[in-house]
Amino acid sequence: MEIKLIQFQSHGDERGSLVSLEQNNGIPFDIKRVYYLFDTKDKVRRGYHAHKKLKQLAVVLKGSCRFLLDDGTEKIELLLDNPAQGIFIESFVWREMFDFSEDCVLMVLADSIYDESDYIRDYEEFIKVSKNDT
Ligand code: TYD
Repeated sequence: MEIKLIQFQSHGDERGSLVSLEQNNGIPFDIKRVYYLFDTKDKVRRGYHAHKKLKQLAVVLKGSCRFLLDDGTEKIELLLDNPAQGIFIESFVWREMFDFSEDCVLMVLADSIYDESDYIRDYEEFIKVSKNDT
């Protein structure tokens, strides 16, 4: 599985840093939704789903957390700890997020509004669907 880490342009000067995200300009989709996770409790592991259509880009704005990404054949773990970097998550990728630092703020940009029917929340079903897909 190819992991698409996107490095954003950081406008840094003596005052600090600024990153600007614009749809279809570095972000490979139209941004329809933004949500963020914060105050995540110790030892919490969340996600545990894939999407049928949704594409997302996750950015850790503060702190750090780990991602497990699984396309049904390969699992990759990675640490996100850089607000100038985003991870692009395609559809049909199972994701779990864990090891949240206490201060972690995880922002997600999505190409569609929230739609529960787009979720695959059962891992066995995900494996079945991803096998049929290949
Ligand atoms: P959930 O899917 O459990 O989060 P995660 O997969 O990151 O662990 O979402 C938690 C709750 O928030 C759930 O009731 C659905 C709701 N929710 C929305 O209303 N809109 C959204 O955009 C998202 C991502 C979740």
